[in-house]
Amino acid sequence: MKQAELGFTFDISHTFASYCEANEINQAFIITDENTRKFCLPLLPQRFPVITIPPGEVSKTLATVETILGELLEKNAGRHAVIFNLGGGVVTDIGGFAASIYKRGIRYVNIPTTLLGMVDAAIGGKTGVDFQFYKNYLGTFYQPDAVLVSLQFLDTLPEEEKESAWAEVVKTALIAGKEVVRMIKSEEPLPKIIASVASLKQEICEKDPRDEDIRQLLNFGHTIGHAYESYRLSIGDPVMHGTAVAKGMLYETILAVRLGLLSDAEADRMLNLITDQTHVSGLNEEEFRGLMPFLAGDKKNRQGFIVFSLPTAIGQGAYGIKVPQADLKF
Ligand SMILES: NC(=O)c1ccc[n+]([C@@H]2O[C@H](COP(=O)([O-])OP(=O)(O)OC[C@H]3O[C@@H](n4cnc5c(N)ncnc54)[C@H](O)[C@@H]3O)[C@@H](O)[C@H]2O)c1
Repeated sequence: MKQAELGFTFDISHTFASYCEANEINQAFIITDENTRKFCLPLLPQRFPVITIPPGEVSKTLATVETILGELLEKNAGRHAVIFNLGGGVVTDIGGFAASIYKRGIRYVNIPTTLLGMVDAAIGGKTGVDFQFYKNYLGTFYQPDAVLVSLQFLDTLPEEEKESAWAEVVKTALIAGKEVVRMIKSEEPLPKIIASVASLKQEICEKDPRDEDIRQLLNFGHTIGHAYESYRLSIGDPVMHGTAVAKGMLYETILAVRLGLLSDAEADRMLNLITDQTHVSGLNEEEFRGLMPFLAGDKKNRQGFIVFSLPTAIGQGAYGIKVPQADLKF
């Protein structure tokens, strides 16, 4: 499966215009949410009709996809129309999904406007929506033609969104990118780090487009992290995704040592980096007990075992590691 063209720019208006010209795009639609319509759309040359959805995870439903498809139909979008998704992971996941099924699939381009989108969600061709109580339950693997990354959009992104996404930057570096760990530690410029993490994700997805193999490395911190997120939601006190992933990484790093996969010295360095970079502390006993029931429902589980992706050294990891739930200790 061919991956998208990945482009970095400091002038999204110019890049957008030249992309449209070079690809002879005559009919296109821009999908935004209400925030990206307000803050990000003005940075593009206004050439195409805009479809706007409400912001946030609540929009990731089949009903929103139906609304988008309805608007495409009403505006006579043809088979050669192109969708530009201008937004964070919510917009790129939904817009990509709509593109993948409209007239059996039309072209689309992601223009991520959140840090998470730039380093993760906009890359790799996973599209989809939530269904009933399950996150990302319906979807397709459908590659965008291009991902156009511009840091200009980060100027208006709320600080807490950046902090949350930074945990994913640290995760990708620790499990798959020793060089990026070095860049983070030596405080290299943000554009350089973002470009490296985005390219790393792209490289991994190229090797394993359907998430059957090495792409699972990127789940580091997420087995415990997702269960913790669900637990916090269940007690009516939700946390940012990045906080949950950071807590997950802290626990899973120690688990890697217990399983003999990682040395104490490497683990210490990793734990320090995670806390320094995310300012998140490890799980307390109450949180650990609280999340346990939610581990059982993880879709990565196999026959009573909980499946983890764990670090084996800084910047390296192993995936598909099965641990009996009873062996998980506080
Ligand atoms: N497809 C994948 O591979 C993949 C990977 C990771 C995450 N995801 C999905 O991504 C979603 C989370 O993405 P996200 O963190 O980007 O959240 P998001 O898309 O909800 O954006 C976060 C908030 O920031 C606002 N916003 C976006 N850009 C802005 C800007 N430049 N200025 C001001 N406000 C802006 C949005 O309107 C929203 O309120 C989840 O649904 C998750 O499942 C998908």
